Amino acid sequence: MSFQLVFLLFLFLHEAYPEAQRSNELHVVTFPPSSAAGLRRQKRDWVIPPISVSENERGPFPKFVAQIKSNRAKEITVYYSITGPGADAPPEGLFIITKTGGELYVTQSLDRESQAQYILTSHAVDINGKTVEDPMEIIIKVTDQNDNRPKFSMNTFLGRISEGSAVGSVVMKVTATDKDDPTMDNGAIGYSILNQEPQEPHSPMFSINKSGTISLVAAGLTREKVGEYKLIVQAADMDGNGLSTTATAVITITDKNGHAFAGLLVRAVDTTKGIPVSNLRITVFKLEDSGNELKRRETSTGLTSANGHFEMSNSLPSPGEYMVRLESGAYWKQQEKDFFHLYVESTFTVADSHQRTINDPEHPLSLEELNVVEQVRVRVNDNDSTVSVEFTPTIPHCSMATLIGLSIKVKLLRSLPERFKVGVLFNFLSVNKQLGDKERVAAALENSHLLEVVNQCLSART
Ligand SMILES: *[C@@H]1O[C@H](CO)[C@@H](O)[C@H](O)[C@H]1NC(C)=O
Ligand SMILES: *[C@@H]1O[C@H](CO)[C@@H](O)[C@H](O)[C@H]1NC(C)=O
Repeated sequence: MSFQLVFLLFLFLHEAYPEAQRSNELHVVTFPPSSAAGLRRQKRDWVIPPISVSENERGPFPKFVAQIKSNRAKEITVYYSITGPGADAPPEGLFIITKTGGELYVTQSLDRESQAQYILTSHAVDINGKTVEDPMEIIIKVTDQNDNRPKFSMNTFLGRISEGSAVGSVVMKVTATDKDDPTMDNGAIGYSILNQEPQEPHSPMFSINKSGTISLVAAGLTREKVGEYKLIVQAADMDGNGLSTTATAVITITDKNGHAFAGLLVRAVDTTKGIPVSNLRITVFKLEDSGNELKRRETSTGLTSANGHFEMSNSLPSPGEYMVRLESGAYWKQQEKDFFHLYVESTFTVADSHQRTINDPEHPLSLEELNVVEQVRVRVNDNDSTVSVEFTPTIPHCSMATLIGLSIKVKLLRSLPERFKVGVLFNFLSVNKQLGDKERVAAALENSHLLEVVNQCLSART
């Protein structure tokens, strides 16, 4: 007797599970056997496979999704209902069920990017409203369609690499995202470079890989020849073959010490004839305040070329006042003029914002050279006037974190137009709190000792 009972039960369990699987393929979901059979099964023992509904389906709606069925319907009339978000809770009425047929319908087109799945609970009662089945959870999975274009995190990415770098050197990284399912081709982004300007000395000079990392593929970067490259980069889903979008990557070629070419260019023109002046001596001085005397220190000198150009061949000039002198006497004499100005002087200022490096308080290197700050972790939103910078000190529990954060914040506040709101983020809450507190930052900068340390971090290296 007891043997027989066990045997029957065994048979029942084994029959019921394959049926649940098979019936789902036919869009029929049957309530698992419940307490009515004298056999209380835990709900989690029953794996009801999710029901898939594609997003962006065209009507007509309501559209059939699946049939919910109770085995008790063989004996009595069963009334079905569904509850949960999407049924009787917001977004209400997205799914409906026919009372006696148990047919589940979707009433409008779904969008996976706004909600990827719905969890409904189905109920079965008899004519008196008495429960005949344990409530059953139904998961509706919204399947993806490729309805989103990738989007770059910035319109223009800035990178730099020093001249003479080896083939294979990493230059920079660009990032795009796609709202479609990243586990499918719809959301799988492939990058490519569409154009390189200038195409010298070779094209291509750069390549981009699956992660958006741009590397050097040819030798021959010479700052004097090409100081800057502009690449049009493309991100396309379907692994590079689907919907696409482009952005610009600007690569500055720096000297071996990582300094970008400042690009001070003087063009000399004879205004009486409107032609370029060659062989005109040009000298650039830095003006230095020493006590009550203004000193001139010569920083570069040379002659204008055949096209009247003179390029200051120094690396990035440090901030300060400069004077450029054009000695035109020899030129005018040669032009057989006996009345002329011997030379022309003009002064100009190299502003602090041209100084892009921030020194580490404890190392002789800049924060960028130490990877404490990286361009990929700087987010600029010109529309919202916000800038946020995430940084990682070289040592995780670095006591200098606040000082580094403060230096970054002050540098940005000094360099950016006033409308910008500057956020500096660090993975220790206490530091973030201090940096986010406007009054505390202002108070800290009134502390002359602290201000001096911050200014040291922001000063030009000699
Ligand atoms: C792309 O290149 C970078 C730098 O060499 C490397 O770290 C990354 O793993 C590469 N990604 C792929 C997908 O090859
Ligand atoms: C800024 O606004 C312009 C024009 O409205 C828009 O095209 C661009 O995508 C916006 N950029 C960001 C980062 O929101």
